[in-house]
Amino acid sequence: MQIGIDSIAFSTSRYFLKLETLAKHREVDYAKYFAGIGQTRMSVFPLNEDIVTVAIDAAQKAISNVENKNDIDLLIFATESSFDLSKSAGIYVHRFLELKEDCRVFDLKQACYSATAALCMARSYVLANPNSKVLIIASDIVKYSPNTSGEPTQGGAAVAMVIATNPRILSIEPYYGVHTTDIMDFWRPIYKNEALFDSKLSVYNYLKSLEISFARYLKNSKLQSSDIDYVCYHAPFCKMARKANNLLFKNKSVDNSLIYNAIVGNSCSASLYICLISLLDNTNDDLKKKRVGFFSYGSGSVAEFFSGIISDNYKNMLSSEDNYRMLSDRIEISFSEYEGFSIDDFAYSFSLGKYENIGSVTLSRIENGQRTYETIRKNITGIRLERGNSVARIPQTASTSLSS
Ligand code: CAA
Repeated sequence: MQIGIDSIAFSTSRYFLKLETLAKHREVDYAKYFAGIGQTRMSVFPLNEDIVTVAIDAAQKAISNVENKNDIDLLIFATESSFDLSKSAGIYVHRFLELKEDCRVFDLKQACYSATAALCMARSYVLANPNSKVLIIASDIVKYSPNTSGEPTQGGAAVAMVIATNPRILSIEPYYGVHTTDIMDFWRPIYKNEALFDSKLSVYNYLKSLEISFARYLKNSKLQSSDIDYVCYHAPFCKMARKANNLLFKNKSVDNSLIYNAIVGNSCSASLYICLISLLDNTNDDLKKKRVGFFSYGSGSVAEFFSGIISDNYKNMLSSEDNYRMLSDRIEISFSEYEGFSIDDFAYSFSLGKYENIGSVTLSRIENGQRTYETIRKNITGIRLERGNSVARIPQTASTSLSS
């Protein structure tokens, strides 16, 4: 039985900061950000937007392809930027999507690896319940303290995926290689909004985990490197994915998979799956029946290399023009706005002015630790809030016109 990704969509903030602007204010050579780490922009979130609102937008788009949403009886919300240690962020999404009551909902955490853990669980779940569909949401907003080397690698986004039998996008193969080791390379204590990290150790452990998990994948699958046509890597910053690729697959380009991450920034659990969307949207060659390798890395750390085969009619399931429009219609913010967005004070944030949400739901209030979300407009799938004239020609123009 083929099981895998039947529908996939992503969403990010309406606002971004150019890394050129950040470089100027931090007195860093912009070439370090552009060429050294491979990033040109990062998504920045006003306080009325959070991992829930952006997740709802991604999920509404993903489930618009599901004929009967009552088939979804499991929702797994993968995140490392949760604001509540008890209640699952997924429950808010469940309400706004109007999913049925007899649907299990819970959050998963293991740094940037959690959506891959969810995928693995979902595959087993659907294998045991072939009539069921699972909705996986990976949603993260990544924050580092100002003036740290991590600052230009902030970002955030949500990816929603529907996992089902006879998937219309990608069948997950039963092969994998896993590597887990107890290491302090990146962590976020519960009293902090910003993550802490050990740069060199994190890069070293990412690459070491890749080598080990890939060797295990090859051993388990009995495949060879040459059997893999494309590879997507967790991309905390694009240069990291390029370094990884240089280690194992020098002859395969990762350019198309990194177009979106270069301008969204790190989205932790969502990042690997944004690579997949970017690869599908921006590759002219027919990808049907091609094998895609995936390297998932979550600091702390758990890493997994696995693979999938692209479905025959995957092109019918793409929303390339919508994705391109969403990204090209984002609004650039100034450095002082960026600094204002970082102040974690709801009243102050609203005093800055009114900021648009990407989707149909906004975070309108936090009182006594309770978050209130409200619908601000009906989200009619396929008809998105328009700003200006969007350019709808991809992929040839995507990397250049979105990158400056
Ligand atoms: N022009 C061009 N290139 C320049 C330059 C310039 N003026 N100045 C520096 N560079 C290059 C450097 O040569 C270097 O390139 P190589 O790696 O190819 O040698 C690159 O820019 C980065 O420079 P540094 O090594 O000096 O980088 P740094 O100390 O500022 O750290 C970072 C960069 C690792 C991205 C840091 O931002 C960081 O630690 N980020 C957070 C942690 C992280 O993302 N780790 C990745 C693995 S962990 C993970 O994947 C989980 C997760 O999502 C966080």
